Amino acid sequence: QENQTTWHYPEVGGDLVRVVVSEQEIRDKLADLAAQIDRDYAGKEILLVGVLKGAAMVMSDLMRHLRSDVSMDWMAVSSYGAGTQSSGVVRILKDLDADISGRHVLVVEDIIDSGLTLSWLMETLERRQPASLEIATLLRKPDAVKVDIDVRYLGFDIPNEFVVGYGLDYAERYRQLPFVAVLAPHVYGG
Ligand code: XMP
Ligand code: MG
Repeated sequence: QENQTTWHYPEVGGDLVRVVVSEQEIRDKLADLAAQIDRDYAGKEILLVGVLKGAAMVMSDLMRHLRSDVSMDWMAVSSYGAGTQSSGVVRILKDLDADISGRHVLVVEDIIDSGLTLSWLMETLERRQPASLEIATLLRKPDAVKVDIDVRYLGFDIPNEFVVGYGLDYAERYRQLPFVAVLAPHVYGG
C-alpha cells in the first residue's frame, strides 16, 4: 500500500521510564505563574524572551494565560563544550529582534540544569540595560546547578535525570510530548 504511515509515539515502558510532570500539573502551574506575573507587572508592558527551541511550549502555554500587555522575542544560542554537558561558553546564533533597554524583560526557559547557559544569558541581557530582568522557568534540577541563579518564577524542581518532552528533546525528538518524562537509557545507549 502506498502512502502508508508509520506511527511512533513515545510511551512509558518504551522509550520513557516514567512521567515526572504531568500535562495537568504543567497546565495548573503555568496558570498560577501567569496570575503571579500579572499581579507583579500590573500596569507594565512585559517583553517575554524565549530561548529556542526548548522554551517554545512553555512560552506559548504561559503567554496564553497572561492578561498583561506582552510582546515576545526569541534568541538562539549554542553551548560550546564536550558531549551533553554545558560548558558555559555560549555563542549567539540568533539575537533578539529589538533593543531591550528600558523594557521589562522576562526570560522564559524550559529548564535550568547546570545554569551555565542562563547565567551567561542574564549577564549578556543585563548589559543592554533593561528596566527589569527576571526569569520564569518550568523546570530546575537543584542537584545539578553549578551557579546561583535568582529564579523569580519556578514551575518544578525535578531530580537530576535526563528528561524529555514539553519542548525538551533528545537529538531533536520527543519535543511534542505534553508532559515531561525521564528518557530510557536504552535510547541513548546507556
Ligand atoms: P544548562 O543549565 O546546563 O542547560 O546550561 C543548558 C540547556 O541544556 C538543555 N538541557 C536539557 N535538555 N533534557 C533536555 O532535553 C534535560 O534533562 C536537559 N538538561 C539541560 C536545555 O536546553 C538547557 O536550556
Ligand atoms: Mg536541547
